[in-house]
Amino acid sequence: MCGIVGYAGKNRAVPYLLEGLEKLEYRGYDSAGVAVAEGNTLRVTKTRGRISNLASLIAAEHQSPATVGIGHTRWATHGKPNDVNAHPHQSQSGRFCVVHNGIIENYLQLKAQLQSEGYVFVSETDTEVIAHLLDKTWDGDFVSTVRKTAALLEGAYAICVLCSDCPDQIVCTRWGSPLVLGVCGEGTFIGSDVTAILRHTNEIYYLDGHETALVDAKGATFFDKDGAAIEKQPKTIEWNLSAAQKGGYEHFMLKEIMEQPRAIADTVSPRITADKTIAFEDFHLSDDEIRRLRRVTIVACGSAYHAGAVGKYVIEKLARLPVEIDIASEFRYRAPVLAPDTLVIVISQSGETADTLAALRLANEQGCKTLCIVNVVSSSIANEGGSVIYTHAGPEIAVATTKAYAAQVAVLYLLAGYLADKRGLLSKAQLASYTDDLLALPDLIQKTLDDCNAQIKAFAQMFIPLEHAYFIGRNLDYACAMEASLKLKEISYIHSEAYAAGELKHGTISLIEKGTLVVALAAYSDVFQKTMSNIKEVKARGARVLAVSTERHMDAMGEVDYKVLIPDANPLFSVSLEVVPMQLLGYYTARARGCDIDKPRNLAKSVTVE
Ligand code: AGP
Repeated sequence: MCGIVGYAGKNRAVPYLLEGLEKLEYRGYDSAGVAVAEGNTLRVTKTRGRISNLASLIAAEHQSPATVGIGHTRWATHGKPNDVNAHPHQSQSGRFCVVHNGIIENYLQLKAQLQSEGYVFVSETDTEVIAHLLDKTWDGDFVSTVRKTAALLEGAYAICVLCSDCPDQIVCTRWGSPLVLGVCGEGTFIGSDVTAILRHTNEIYYLDGHETALVDAKGATFFDKDGAAIEKQPKTIEWNLSAAQKGGYEHFMLKEIMEQPRAIADTVSPRITADKTIAFEDFHLSDDEIRRLRRVTIVACGSAYHAGAVGKYVIEKLARLPVEIDIASEFRYRAPVLAPDTLVIVISQSGETADTLAALRLANEQGCKTLCIVNVVSSSIANEGGSVIYTHAGPEIAVATTKAYAAQVAVLYLLAGYLADKRGLLSKAQLASYTDDLLALPDLIQKTLDDCNAQIKAFAQMFIPLEHAYFIGRNLDYACAMEASLKLKEISYIHSEAYAAGELKHGTISLIEKGTLVVALAAYSDVFQKTMSNIKEVKARGARVLAVSTERHMDAMGEVDYKVLIPDANPLFSVSLEVVPMQLLGYYTARARGCDIDKPRNLAKSVTVE
């Protein structure tokens, strides 16, 4: 998730571009740049780091009088944050400059084709293919050239393009990633969202999928997906800036919960090939090394550790490899027994968590194969891993992770399928149906969000007065229960514990009395009946039970007090649906208790201290 802006008007463009980028910095902040049209020359200024870096570079380099320009603030997905990979990217002829937000899934094929035709690439980004494709498809008409180029792209994109032959104009188009426009006396503004434009006008045009806009100082001309000119009506936005940055949601946490379908789609689909196999960019274990693996150890902290717990069950089930999970702060001080045929997987949203980084270094020192599952490109952990698989969840602002956790779990599903395939444990047909089920996840998560949101908001009222809550589950449900309990505890400050449901009767059940609220997770069909028997145990001691399960188990949930139903899906992926109502439960309970949700007490987004 990056931020892009554009301006065409009567005033100098650069100040507007920098102002818009500052408003969009929450979308990505590892590098930034602008391009302006000075006569028939396009001038690009870009740099690694925050907008303030770019502003000082521009102040030192030029006071361009240009009144037309585009800009970008980056959240790296392809290519580490540096001056070369920063946007805008310029075409080989210099005629075009492009800024892009999204992921071009077929960029490797396009790049190979363009290189075979003599185009020279200077960056590691997927976006640079767009710049060269514009040169290749140039037919003298700015709009048709951008439309032809866009038609070759697979994946999500919002792009703004400058052309040296048309210095007074910008052309922009989108599919999957957002793009809005505003027209006022100062000129025409383009942005990834309304935050970049609101200070100038709250009359906003929303560009729909495959629509294109030709922008100049007087306004915008819109074209539909077939290239026919269309009229569009602006919407009036009443939000203030902070609400706009939250996309109209009250908190970043709720916005990020709602972004999970996109985060999963961006994380999963680029890794599933046209013939329904699984492929990773920076995974450096050979098939033979994978077949010779003897053990997997997953090491992480907090929610990332809980994602690892899901990985344990799925990798053991599919790839038949023994998987240990370990808390990094324990792993690094317990002298673990490791060997070169052990794959140590470390998981981290920030890529900077000190204990997890130390665990990785220990595994490297001991000659293990190491794999990092990380959300921040070129973070310390990503840079030190033998292999890295990035989650494409985009920047996560709320301290309580949601979409990054969901993307980590999705990467572990991909990895389990990949290891099983390389170890000859899945037939071509089984792998194809597995990847089909993975590609179906974003829509199923969207259905879960739509079905559960209002119900959980109501249920959260029951949790307001609570001092203690218990989450129980077996197998994958237990892994989800650990995350559900943390989501409630870390933002609502209610003491809550997660228990393997079968373990309750060995002591903890003594805490269960009349009125105790127990959340039972029972979506994983393999252990559904066993979990129902544990529900009977706590019910017999007077507990109130809120149970989460799938639609097909609806009639078998017997004596629970409150039912939350999620769609049926591949049972191995049940956690990805089951965790959604639990994230919402934590959120709405904390909101009802008036807690500071995005910045809970005593917590930091990334724990970089020892
Ligand atoms: C989860 O909501 C917390 N923010 C915390 O447990 C977090 O998961 C943990 O600190 C690990 O952070 P990381 O993924 O950035 O390494």
